[in-house]
Amino acid sequence: MKLLVCGAAGFIGSNFVRLRVRDHGDEITVLDKLTYAGRMENLQDVESDIRFVHGAIEDPAAVAEAIGDAEAIVNFAAETHVDRSIADPEGFLVTNMQGTHVLLEAARQRGLRYLQVSTDEVYGSIEEGSFTEDSPLEPSSPYSATKTGADLLVSSYYHTYGLETVICRGSNNYGPHQYPEKLIPLMILNALAGDTLPVYGDGRNVRNWLFVEDFARGIGHALLHGQPGEVYNCGGPDECDNLTVVNRIIELTGAGPDLIEFVTDRPGHDRRYSLSSDKLQGLGWRAQVRFDEGIARTVDWYRENEWWWGSIRSGEYREYYERHYGRALKA
Ligand code: NAD
Ligand code: DAU
Repeated sequence: MKLLVCGAAGFIGSNFVRLRVRDHGDEITVLDKLTYAGRMENLQDVESDIRFVHGAIEDPAAVAEAIGDAEAIVNFAAETHVDRSIADPEGFLVTNMQGTHVLLEAARQRGLRYLQVSTDEVYGSIEEGSFTEDSPLEPSSPYSATKTGADLLVSSYYHTYGLETVICRGSNNYGPHQYPEKLIPLMILNALAGDTLPVYGDGRNVRNWLFVEDFARGIGHALLHGQPGEVYNCGGPDECDNLTVVNRIIELTGAGPDLIEFVTDRPGHDRRYSLSSDKLQGLGWRAQVRFDEGIARTVDWYRENEWWWGSIRSGEYREYYERHYGRALKA
């Protein structure tokens, strides 16, 4: 297929592009603003196989330049970190909502299929059981509220204009190339550096962990086999609380358990996420990587790829870390 993939210099988008180029021979144009989270290093091994356009999804001119003769748009582009959305929500509205609108308009004018990459956070928190695609939308953070707004806008383009839209909602991803503001890469890099491991609240919040290559395959499945106007959940095979995740990272890195430090909880912190993926499984998708295997592969990748994260830990990230955690990152 000929695809316009937005936000693919980030974590999940770059894994998706790698998969589509290598296994499916898709012709891909990437449109990315290269924010702090977007890095050409993430696309280094496929750079010669794709066309790259530097620009923002909320800029119609950049979208028009990038779109070429694409048959479909896949939108990963977003501001994605919940803690940053709590500190400063405005950029989340611009990219996640206004940007989605510009892409939908471009798809509508050209009659393109449109896949929106979304999140389990639109459903809010669930104490027991799992969310289905029919569960009510009850987002808690500015991040998830803007992702919910975008999902509703996508659905409105299906209902109003008959645009071929599909929404794929993933649970917490982890794996290679994830920016170290998120729990798993942050804990791995701090553990390797002998730095403290800041666990929010009591550490008993539960997340439904999904290896990034499984999500990339799930999105491909939803794009090719999903019904227009439908939503597909894509959840990981294992649930785990944060303390269990951190203790596993301690074991795999050989760090000391005394590095764990309980810090002030995130405001409005969702207690538990859990997705039912029955509908996507009905299209033939299955998660292939269990948490035990995926976390070991992820720790190995960070251990072996200091070239990728060394410059992050010495740049904007240091300032973010100090601002957010109120302490300096260990050199
Ligand atoms: P990321 O933060 O690693 O990457 C985001 C990418 O979008 C970066 O390359 C960035 O430069 C780009 N971007 C940001 N604003 C842009 C703009 N205005 N125009 C163009 N590009 C812009 O994000 P990720 O973790 O890879 O998440 C990708 C998508 O998947 C997001 O839509 C997110 O909501 C969704 N999602 C993430 C997870 C997860 O666990 N990380 C789970 C489910 C869904
Ligand atoms: O569920 C999907 C979502 O997963 C995506 O939509 C988001 O883009 C992505 O950021 C992620 O959101 P979370 O808030 O769940 O992920 P995060 O890695 O920020 O936090 C995971 C859990 O770990 C959460 O309970 C908060 C906790 N945490 C996080 C950090 C960064 C800590 O205890 N300490 C930390 O330093």
